Parts: sequence; structure tokens; C-alpha cells
Amino acid sequence: MPKTFYITTPIYYVNDKPHIGHAYTTIACDVLARFKRLDGFQVKFLSGTDEHGQKVAKAARDQGIEPIDLCDRNSKNFRDLAGVIGASNDDFIRTTEPRHIAACQALWKDLEKSGHIYLAKYAGWYAVRDEAFYDEGELTKGPSGDKLAPSGAPVEWVEEESYFFKLSAFQEPLLKFYDANPDFIGPKSRFNEVYSFVKGGLRDLSISRTTFSWGVAVPGNEKHVMYVWIDALTNYIAALGYPDKTKDYAAYWPHAMHVVGKDIIRFHCVYWPAFLMAANLAPPKRVFAHGWWTVEGQKMSKSLGNAIDPNALIEKYGLDQIRYFLMREIPFGNDGDFSESAISGRINGELANEFGNLAQRGLGFIAKTLGSVLPAPGAYTPEDNEILKACAELIVPARVAMDAQGFDKALDAIWAVVRAANQYVDKQAPWALKKTDPARMNTVLYVMAEIVRHLAIIMQPFVPTSANKMLDQLGVAADARSFAHLGRNHALKGGTTLPAPSPVFPRYVPPGESKPGKST
Ligand code: MSP
Repeated sequence: MPKTFYITTPIYYVNDKPHIGHAYTTIACDVLARFKRLDGFQVKFLSGTDEHGQKVAKAARDQGIEPIDLCDRNSKNFRDLAGVIGASNDDFIRTTEPRHIAACQALWKDLEKSGHIYLAKYAGWYAVRDEAFYDEGELTKGPSGDKLAPSGAPVEWVEEESYFFKLSAFQEPLLKFYDANPDFIGPKSRFNEVYSFVKGGLRDLSISRTTFSWGVAVPGNEKHVMYVWIDALTNYIAALGYPDKTKDYAAYWPHAMHVVGKDIIRFHCVYWPAFLMAANLAPPKRVFAHGWWTVEGQKMSKSLGNAIDPNALIEKYGLDQIRYFLMREIPFGNDGDFSESAISGRINGELANEFGNLAQRGLGFIAKTLGSVLPAPGAYTPEDNEILKACAELIVPARVAMDAQGFDKALDAIWAVVRAANQYVDKQAPWALKKTDPARMNTVLYVMAEIVRHLAIIMQPFVPTSANKMLDQLGVAADARSFAHLGRNHALKGGTTLPAPSPVFPRYVPPGESKPGKST
């Protein structure tokens, strides 16, 4: 039985247009999914759209269309985004699909059966924008004295018959669960935040609404639709075939990881495990909450008109370049401010000058000097052995970093080797050996090719297209690119004719500036 890994993005609200914040979450999940696949795991990677609730119903009404028409149109934008950003998700779930509705109703019935749902009257504050209920004490005052949710969203007073979930009964079980699973929430600061929130006491949660109908009907009482978060969270098990608990559910759910933004941590780390425990199901293995990207210090939003369109950015800089930037620029979990100068700095300083140049120097020289025939190496010097060992062992710190979702730390470790490799090339100076010691030159060129093979294999999750281009240029077979192929057992064969090399990471030149001319 292969090791399995289940990774999910949040499902995106269909009332918004995809922006770089959404792309960020999906790219992070994609990098993890690719890393695990290359590391021998059988991976299921899920994304999708969150289509019910008052917010969507209102957006459709404002546009004079049926909610489902709005959902069809906007869900497609998110599905397309996955393609644009190179996401390798193997499923895309929509909460309006029958498989999802069936799973929600099955979960509801399980909660009811286990005695965790009761009917009463709800009176309290609701923020449609957040699709969340708030206590009076959590509210703040807006500039004109109006009440606002902690997120800044306007709230309205809601008074209606509602089903409640006995969340209050889960304070102790949740604290016990957190104590027993200190890795349930990352980063650690978020774990502490959730822990103290639960420690402060939990109130029962209103989980149905009667004042609108765009949602999953409550089984047995069609006057009610389910609260959009109980509906939304269920997508993660619906896509595994729940209520069937054999097959995908059995294979993947014990290894589930949700990547979410910091704004939706309470739903994923408090409500969701409580619902699951109440239904006698296991909570997911881990939830990681990343930070938010702002633009010039401001929140990205439709109303401010400052949302960054991933399509435009990718067109301008390149897909792998943007993927690399997003994973490199800020530690996952921290907030970051978006700046285009930081992007070009990373592209030129790191991808073009350091990684790309390393590959181009080796491959270009083999093409020019040896007619593209990869030489066979002679005996290795201690320096050769040292850099080859660093390459072969790089997977160890990379794995540790990736298991903690430390993308920047994994890239730090990789870049330490990229820099050491460039120093190795400068010191060995194969171009100077051409006349003095061609046999040694051959060995150095071979070591350079092996270095690039290792780095390209390990960089595939971050920059899949470019890394695979490098591997193509080294003549590495498509089925010899996994982490199992790192190390000397799978080394390149000397004597192979390599395809013509071409630079993989071009420098970014802003429009209007000319490319530097070739030195003569
Ligand atoms: N529909 C809910 C999630 C339900 S999951 C069962 C939702 N959708 S959302 O479309 O509003 O947000 C989806 C994700 O995008 C969230 O994780 C959110 O944190 C993330 N981001 C939205 N804007 C963002 C930034 N500006 N920066 C980084 N991530 C951001 O919430």
C-alpha cells in the first residue's frame, strides 16, 4: 500500500474574481502536492468553489440572474485559474454538485443521530460578507457609529428559528485533541491563538437559516437551509466519497491537510473538528494557516479595485517566476506586501543569475566544446565529492522544511547548494582546463551536469516547467525524475548526446529598457 497524502485548498467564494491571494493558496498546495508525489506518495489534491449562502444569493439578485447561473459562470473562473497557475489538482468540487449535497445531508443526519443538533431560536449578529455569526462583545464601531464585525464587515441583526450545533459540549474534547496533536495547526502562533479561543469557552452554533433558500436543504425540514460553513467544510470529505467510508475516504482522510488563509482558521480548527468528532469521524491531520498579501499596505479587495490579477502577472513575468516569488518572498504563515520590484529582483538575482546561469554555463560549455556529448568523468577530487554529496543529501533538509510547510526554508537549503555549486564552477574553471587538462575538464563538466540534474529534480515542485526543461536538456527520461532518482545510483551516463541547450530563466527586462547587448 503506497503512502498517501491528501491536500486541499479552501473552496473559493464564487462572488469574487480570482486574484493573487487565491492563486497563492492554490500554488502553495500545488507545490506540496508535487513534492509529495515526487517523494513517492500517492496524492490527492482538491480545490473547488463555495457556491451557497446569502452572499451569493444577494450577488445573483443584484445582477438579476439566477444563483446557479452566477455560480456556473464564476466557478469556471476558478477552475481556469488552476490551469493558469499550473495547479496539478486531480479534483475540483462545486458545492452545488449532487455528490456534495448528498455528503452534507449525510453528515447532518449523523450529527442529529448522535444528539448534537437541536431546534431553537437564534437572535444575534450576522455578517453576510464573512458568512459568520458574532457576539455583541466582538463587534467594533465603524466611522459613522455603525456596528462592524472584527473583519470590518457590516453586520445585521438576525432573529429566526434555527438549528443549533452543540459546540459548547466540545470545549474539553477539542482541548484534549489539541494537547494530543500539537502539530494539528501550523504555524505555532496560530495553534496558540486557537487554543486560547477555545479555552475562553464555546457557545452553541446556529447552523441553519430560514430567511433565504440558496443552500443545502436540511433533511426532514425543508424550511431550513444549512449554514454555509457546515456545507462548505463538508466538501473535503464529499470529494473522498463520504458517506462511503471505504475507498478514497479510508485511503486519504487519515492523511488530510488543509491549507487556509488566516481569516478562516476558526472554521477549520474549531468548528470542523467538532463537527467531525460529533459525527464520530476523525479530524484532519493538519491545518496550516498562511498570511495575507496586501498591496501597498492595503487589503486587496474588489471594492478598492486593487486586486492583482494572476493572469496579467504571469503574462508579464512568467508562471514559474511568479510561483517561485510567492513561495520565496515571505515565510509561509507571515503576511507580505506585494511589490513588483521584489519580483524582478528575485527573477534576475536568483533564477536568472544563480540557478539559470549555473545550468547554462555547464550545458552551453558541453555543447560548444564537446559537440553536446556528455563526457564520462574521471576520478573525483574531494571538491567533486563534496558538492555531489551536498546535492544528493539536499532532499533531507528539504523534506523536513516541506513537512512543516516551510517553503522558504526548503528554498534556503536549495539555494545554499546553488551558491556552493557556482563557487565550485568558478574555482574549477573548466574553460581554463580546456588546453591544460582536458580530462579534468571533462570530469568538472560531468559534475556540473550532475549538479544541475539534482537541483532540477528538487526544484520541480516550485518551477515545474523550467525544471523539466532543464531535465530535458540533460536527456533525463521522464520516469527518472522523482526523488528516488537522486544520488549516484541514477547518475547520468557519459557519452550521451544531449539536446541543444537554451537558457531556461531569462532575465526580466522592464518594457522600454533594452536587453543588454552581447559583450564582444
Ligand atoms: N469560501 C470560503 C472558504 C471555505 S473552505 C471550506 C472562503 N473563500 S474566499 O474565496 O473568500 O477565500 C479563499 C482563500 O483565499 C482563503 O484562504 C483566504 O485566506 C485566501 N485569500 C483571499 N485573499 C487573500 C489575500 N489577499 N492574501 C492571501 N490569501 C487570501 O473564505
